[in-house]
Amino acid sequence: ASIPVLAIDGPTASGKGTVAARVAEVLGWNLLDSGSIYRMLALSAIKRNVAFDDEAQLVKLADALDASFDHGRIVLDGEDVSIVVRREETGNAASKLAALPAVRLALLARQRAYRQSPGLVADGRDMASVVFPDAFLKIFMTASAEARAERRYKQLIDKGLSANIDSLVLELRERDLRDSSRPVAPLKQGPDSVLLDTTAMGIEEAVQFVLDHAHAAL
Ligand code: C5P
Repeated sequence: ASIPVLAIDGPTASGKGTVAARVAEVLGWNLLDSGSIYRMLALSAIKRNVAFDDEAQLVKLADALDASFDHGRIVLDGEDVSIVVRREETGNAASKLAALPAVRLALLARQRAYRQSPGLVADGRDMASVVFPDAFLKIFMTASAEARAERRYKQLIDKGLSANIDSLVLELRERDLRDSSRPVAPLKQGPDSVLLDTTAMGIEEAVQFVLDHAHAAL
């Protein structure tokens, strides 16, 4: 049998990253935080002065991307970028170049390479629809824009970064719109995905929900 993949897709700040990491830890599986790959490509483009709509140059950067996850640290070109990669402006830049079909295609094999024994938990926007369509469990995780903005606000403040709640709500809405209206791999719940709305739910409960469904399906 092929190596099992558990796909968790959803909008930014829905809590999917945290839940994916916890579920991977409990199962003893590998983890793919696909958003970080798009974020690292954005950082690479900024560093080299490549515009977010220069598809040809971005594909070259994607092919040559020297990015890795090292014990929870995010490393780009040998440099620890764990902090800057989480910034809102990095996420917004990532969402611009993620709208380009050739860029998505260039990052496909890199993402699929994370499928290693004994299993993979992958989070992103198109894990279920494009990257791992044969995932044994597909979760679509969401929460209201206000709840997500509040969580993102806390995360940023905890990391010592500055944040403004009203502009976070606006930015989230703008990013949701860009991610869900793009023609290629738009963010949306697929017909074979289980909906997990965490607006009024804590992380523990969300982790348990995913684990219960995983155990039932395995
Ligand atoms: O999930 P995260 O906020 O880190 O992702 C940053 C951006 O990367 C998203 O807004 C989205 O446009 C893009 N992305 C994507 N496909 C994925 C993961 C992220 O298009 N699988």
